[in-house]
Amino acid sequence: MTGGGDAPGLNAVIRAVVMTAQNCYGWQVVGIRQGYDGLLTPETPVVSLDPAHVQPLLTRGGTILGAVNRGNPFMHAVKYADGTVQYVDMAQNAVERLEALDINALIVAGGDGTMAIAQRLIALGARIVGVPKTIDNDLAQTDVSFGFDTAILTATEALDKLQTTAESHHRVMVMEVMGRNSGWIALKTGVAGGADVILIPEIPFDVERVCLHLMEMRTPERNHALVVVAEGAAVVGGQQQYYIKASGLMDARLGGIGYSLGNSIAERTGFDVRVLRLGHLQRGGSPTPHDRWLATRFGAAAVHLAARQQWGQMVALQGNDIVSAPMAEAVKIKRVDPSGEMVQMARDLGISFGDA
Ligand code: F6P
Repeated sequence: MTGGGDAPGLNAVIRAVVMTAQNCYGWQVVGIRQGYDGLLTPETPVVSLDPAHVQPLLTRGGTILGAVNRGNPFMHAVKYADGTVQYVDMAQNAVERLEALDINALIVAGGDGTMAIAQRLIALGARIVGVPKTIDNDLAQTDVSFGFDTAILTATEALDKLQTTAESHHRVMVMEVMGRNSGWIALKTGVAGGADVILIPEIPFDVERVCLHLMEMRTPERNHALVVVAEGAAVVGGQQQYYIKASGLMDARLGGIGYSLGNSIAERTGFDVRVLRLGHLQRGGSPTPHDRWLATRFGAAAVHLAARQQWGQMVALQGNDIVSAPMAEAVKIKRVDPSGEMVQMARDLGISFGDA
């Protein structure tokens, strides 16, 4: 089952799970569609997965099992004919459906929300192991999650393209990237793409300082600038910005800081500013070789975890090793250390974080 939003490499996980389960244990594998919702709606049949079926999946983005980032069996949305919606605890039904389907082990690939629900289902008797998934790279316990490298490639290619037009037009280009409350995508893309300013949620910024930096760095030789801002970044003492309000079980969606920042820079400096909000392009496309490799290692390791009946454990990458870690630890968020080596290295290169 794949839970939450998609990430490049999910299909490679599914492929590795099926091939390892069949080759090493002779197990039959089925896929549960539409995340946890697939366990609650009998009209959503499971998909039989065999090696021939999954063999071509290595290079394919998204997830063949479908993604639902609101699915929660503990608060399942039931819609009535009059249009009203009630949230009902159907977790026991989900566990019973697993039994009815004769599923001996459930492997869920998901982020912090998916893992938190998995833990609660385990307490009700479900047999679940986890695979960490997020392009944001913000899950504690694993040094890297698959999808992150692909997102960085997409974002860096976009920044490279913005650079040439910024240079031609002597413009300040602001690019907003994803990452929720962590700045991993912004930091890595910004450094890899030669940004002049990187703004991340972990370091609240001051617009005046950003503008000062942009004015000071402009010379006749380099009369343009690149600014990378994480969707979750905010000004000192200010709030994060959202472009879609919360509704039902869905949290508000971060986005829009790039536009307000671009406007502020233009007003204060008089520079010609343009803004790109890269959005879901960062989640799409074929996984990079790095992500195919990591997703494959994770999928294979998850099968071995299930064989050892290590319910409640999640596979993870620590250093170069695939290890297992409690899901309870994985639901904690990993953020960029504002005083760590990576931020300091970027500062040493002359990159501004808008705080000094
Ligand atoms: O967690 C992955 C992520 O892409 C975040 O970076 C982003 O804030 C969020 O998901 C977007 O979610 P949705 O696809 O629901 O808009």
